[in-house]
Amino acid sequence: MTNNRPIGFIDSGVGGLTVVKEAIKQLPNESILYLGDTARCPYGPRPAEQVIAYTWQMTRFLLEKNIKMLVIACNTATAVALEEIKEKLAIPVIGVILPGSRAAVKASKNQRIGVIGTNGTIKSDSYKRALHGKAPHASVVSLACPKFVPIVESKQYHSSVAKKIVAETLRPLKNKRLDTVILGCTHYPLLRPLIQNELGAHIQLIDSGAETVGEVSTLLDYFSIAATSQDDPHPQHAFFTTGSPKIFDEIANDWLDLDTISSIHTDLGGF
Ligand code: DGL
Repeated sequence: MTNNRPIGFIDSGVGGLTVVKEAIKQLPNESILYLGDTARCPYGPRPAEQVIAYTWQMTRFLLEKNIKMLVIACNTATAVALEEIKEKLAIPVIGVILPGSRAAVKASKNQRIGVIGTNGTIKSDSYKRALHGKAPHASVVSLACPKFVPIVESKQYHSSVAKKIVAETLRPLKNKRLDTVILGCTHYPLLRPLIQNELGAHIQLIDSGAETVGEVSTLLDYFSIAATSQDDPHPQHAFFTTGSPKIFDEIANDWLDLDTISSIHTDLGGF
């Protein structure tokens, strides 16, 4: 088995690109296959059973393409589907919630930690459980921000409307004496400047997706499956979306600072 097989990344839409951005930077020899289920985004308001079914469809699609590791680059899917998928797959599977929680516990001085995410992630209490698993006495303040994902998917993350929505939504986190807030949705790093501006420079924001890439790297080494420059001097990346490639490409090229991404439309009906 060669090590130049790709690593698969899945998300409900463009959010997982925030993890891919970090992966391209930290793992330059690795080939990446990305699938965003843009047509059915957002996953946040959907029942857990539906999110699990959609996550399996995305997983099967990438397994057919011979990935060597799967990154569930979506907190909402990680919260409900990670354990089941990890148990059934023969390749390593990693989610974004534990790495983000670990980083937050490490970063926080007063152990008063905020978590923002989709309705599904917040309702699952996955972050609270993960944080208390590491720091039993930490105070965790959770807040669902259901309006954030639609802003990102419609490419309005630089707009004044976005600024207003971020300010209104995050108001309940003010005056809670938090020193650290987890961006518990992979779409949120695209709103990071607005979130930071609203919460104040004294708050440390934890990008759960970016933290995950450190663990991907560790796992690649642990299982001896990391690609080296001898394996493949030109790693290949491919991007698939169930929605419109046009808007996906605009956001992907903007966020990854490239002009080469040309995604392929795919239908998950057969998976
Ligand atoms: N990016 C996703 C997450 O990290 C999902 C957003 C959504 O589809 O609601 O939770």
